[in-house]
Amino acid sequence: MSGPQAKKLFVKTYGCQMNVYDSERMAEALGAEGYVPTDVIEDADMVLLNTCHIREKASEKLYSDLGRLKPLKAEKPGLKIGVAGCVAQAEGAEILRRMPLVDLVVGPQAYHRLPEMLRLPGQSVDTDFPAEDKFDHLPARKGRRGPTAFLTVQEGCDKFCAFCVVPYTRGAEVSRPAARLLAEARDLVSRGVREITLLGQNVNAWHGESPAGGVWGLGHLVRELAAIPGLDRIRYTTSHPNDMAEDLISAHAEVPQLMPYLHLPVQSGSDRILKAMNRKHTAAHYLDLVARIRAARPDMLLTSDFIVGFPGETDADFEATMALIRAVHYGAAFSFKYSARPGTPAAEKPPVAAEIADSRLQALQALILDQQHAAQAAMVGREVQVLYEKPGRLPGQMVGKSQHLMAVFVQDPTGQVGDLVRARVSASAPNSLAADRIPD
Ligand code: 5AD
Ligand code: SF4
Repeated sequence: MSGPQAKKLFVKTYGCQMNVYDSERMAEALGAEGYVPTDVIEDADMVLLNTCHIREKASEKLYSDLGRLKPLKAEKPGLKIGVAGCVAQAEGAEILRRMPLVDLVVGPQAYHRLPEMLRLPGQSVDTDFPAEDKFDHLPARKGRRGPTAFLTVQEGCDKFCAFCVVPYTRGAEVSRPAARLLAEARDLVSRGVREITLLGQNVNAWHGESPAGGVWGLGHLVRELAAIPGLDRIRYTTSHPNDMAEDLISAHAEVPQLMPYLHLPVQSGSDRILKAMNRKHTAAHYLDLVARIRAARPDMLLTSDFIVGFPGETDADFEATMALIRAVHYGAAFSFKYSARPGTPAAEKPPVAAEIADSRLQALQALILDQQHAAQAAMVGREVQVLYEKPGRLPGQMVGKSQHLMAVFVQDPTGQVGDLVRARVSASAPNSLAADRIPD
């Protein structure tokens, strides 16, 4: 495929892991059309920007990047420029009006139509939510892979949190059937994958058709995946507190392949704000859930997302968020200043002053960082399992992730990418651990 005639594709991915997965699949679909990937944008015959709409900053990034592509397009009029992802879905043809250099705009549910769109002359837009599953129409993945992979099991969201664009950009919640997921997982494992992260905007709401025709929940799927020989690690993200079924919690106690790491966003610790956010649970409900999860799996590391400065958030509301963080002890968290998104209910409400939101964000991030450092430091002296993902910067060093998704550096001159080894942690830094290999 990579002869002198091969066309080159440059892909830039913004936002979440779902987009990372989609970018891979789009690159493969375009591979079937003769495109080979390139990291050098100047060499590209096609530039594909897979965008994120979650916050204003993420969204605006598309337009600044498109602005920077103008000279390249002027130099190379045959260059195709495509906009995919959630900004494509939300803004559609508006993107073509604002940026005439764009050739095609394709929403997340229409990626399988990308090759067809490329053959059309002029500009085109496809932001349909077609009835067919795009994954059925995307080419199968081929060739050897690294030791870790993503697998989308569920897309879209029916929760309608008052701040969030996802139900509008990714559409209603759809679960892929279990048989397809099991087949895809087996195929990944046959190509060298040892760790699979199940992806969904609301992954623990997955309720897919079972091979026998009934319906399974995520806990059941995890148990079936764990029966695949060679699949050593299973993770899933992102979860909603209200969908943490008993069967999924007990899977954490019973399935050794299911890693003791859970991203469980709470957004706020104030019941008043949780209500205004339409989260449909209280802080006490969340804390009780955390206790039940930790009872099932005592070494569970929890992470979360937080929004500060949601409309109406008072000092007392913010203090309740800080109190919840102190009660949970997180391993890490993403935190954001509230960003009003067009079309969402919260965008109608008067915002909190920017300086107040800024200072709350700083205080929250300092507290989370303290907890992150403590979680990392607590690993020193303990045994971890590390799945090597790549060689480290030092000679003879390998880098991989522990069960808790912490980056671990191991001095291991004979180590290979894909090895799953035992190691004892010798030192901790804010974002990584150093460990010595324990001989087999
Ligand atoms: N403003 C700020 N943060 C947001 N998030 C989602 N929507 C917004 C918004 N309008 C955050 C939430 C979510 C994460 C993916 O992004 O914390 O969990
Ligand atoms: Fe961004 Fe959400 Fe879309 Fe992911 S699903 S790309 S985070 S807007």
